[in-house]
Amino acid sequence: MADYVKPLDEKTIECVFGQVTSDGNSNVRCSIESPSNKLGPIASDQLVVITSLATVLLALGTTLYTIWKYRSDSRMRLEQIQNEKAKNHKFEQLQKIEKFYGPFNALREESFILYEHFALEEKSIQKKQGKKFRTLRFLTQKNESGLVGIEKLKPYDQSILSNILEISERSLELIESHGGYIDNPALHTLLGKLAAHFRMLKLAADGKLEGLSENLEDIVFPREIDGAIDNEIHKIESSKNINNVQKKYSPNKTVRFYDENSQQYALRTRKADMSGIYDEFFRFIPKGARILDAGCGVGRDTKYFIQEGYKVRSFDASAAMVDMCNEYPFAFCEKMKFSEIQFGPTFDAVWASASLLHLNSFDIEIAFKKLWQCLIPGGYLYFSLKQNLNKSDTREYYIHDEIILKKILVDDLEMELVKAWETPSSVNFYDKFENYIYKKI
Ligand SMILES: C[S@@+](CC[C@H](N)C(=O)[O-])C[C@H]1O[C@@H](n2cnc3c(N)ncnc32)[C@H](O)[C@@H]1O
Repeated sequence: MADYVKPLDEKTIECVFGQVTSDGNSNVRCSIESPSNKLGPIASDQLVVITSLATVLLALGTTLYTIWKYRSDSRMRLEQIQNEKAKNHKFEQLQKIEKFYGPFNALREESFILYEHFALEEKSIQKKQGKKFRTLRFLTQKNESGLVGIEKLKPYDQSILSNILEISERSLELIESHGGYIDNPALHTLLGKLAAHFRMLKLAADGKLEGLSENLEDIVFPREIDGAIDNEIHKIESSKNINNVQKKYSPNKTVRFYDENSQQYALRTRKADMSGIYDEFFRFIPKGARILDAGCGVGRDTKYFIQEGYKVRSFDASAAMVDMCNEYPFAFCEKMKFSEIQFGPTFDAVWASASLLHLNSFDIEIAFKKLWQCLIPGGYLYFSLKQNLNKSDTREYYIHDEIILKKILVDDLEMELVKAWETPSSVNFYDKFENYIYKKI
């Protein structure tokens, strides 16, 4: 009653929510109506439901927005961190090239050229006797005039050797001051061998190792160094973009064969004797040349060429073959098909041993054009194809006769055939291969 009827004085009361009725006497009535009943057409309990629902929806909306905002902020932060990381990574990689690999490579190039012009007479004498000239051995052996070290050489060769030694000194400084940039442990070892060789060469040139040539036979110049440094630069270049992803494609049944039988295939081919074919190939290829090993398989030839002082890049369509090739720490093999390569005219030679034989006549034409583009003018293309089809597994083989080869390589690409010869297969009795060397004009 106190909530609804408010006495104003002794005789007057105010009915706050209700309606006042009087019977004329002192009986005043206040009929009370609940305020909720008075709010338009919406019933009070409905209003409660609507309000609660609105509150829940509002809370839900706020929560969803907060979650969305949190996630988008986190994503942005993550992207920022990743971009920052990529930028730092790129910067670090660039530093490696700018501060170590680039200058080191330039010094090696300089030294290589000088060495090509050094001690030509002595080198030719050794060659005639079927021997290899070794500078360290030469410098430690006294000649008929009792001279040893740099004194044994003609003035012209003395100047060249002094320059080579000066370059070696600068290379040693680079190795010592920037060794931290070298990630590849095998390369550390190789550079250690190179440093030992440089130091011994200096001592020998100063005449301090007289008569010790036999003890120094194991101190040899590590010929892998140039190919190893070159590929380290390629690895850095390709890793500059850490978001780089290998192209994915489903392998055809030939490539699947190599993926699924990589171990057995490696056992059969890793030790194959390729010496006869190498000899023919290297008659045309300059020392230290850049070679592309196309369809390299387990990387037997990539490894051999790098060990012989060549700079080699490799590719293969089979992921398992790529991994095997890259087991050699100085290789740089990429997963690619012939149709995908895009190197520009950078190679002195292409080596495609028993790989183009898996391509049909349409694909081989594309492949030859791609390989031609990789060669510098005057560069050589070696490839081998099967002469007969002895299919014993799921791989596809194709025979391409001389007429087709002439049409693509001579008529269309204007290459010159410099050599063609037959060899038995180095892995089984019944296969015969036709080998070709073409020159880009
Ligand atoms: C018979 S093996 C030769 C491997 C190596 N060159 C040797 O002489 O030992 C053929 C190689 O060609 C590769 N290959 C097949 N089709 C290819 C393609 N379209 N592009 C690149 N490589 C391919 C295979 O994966 C395989 O490693």
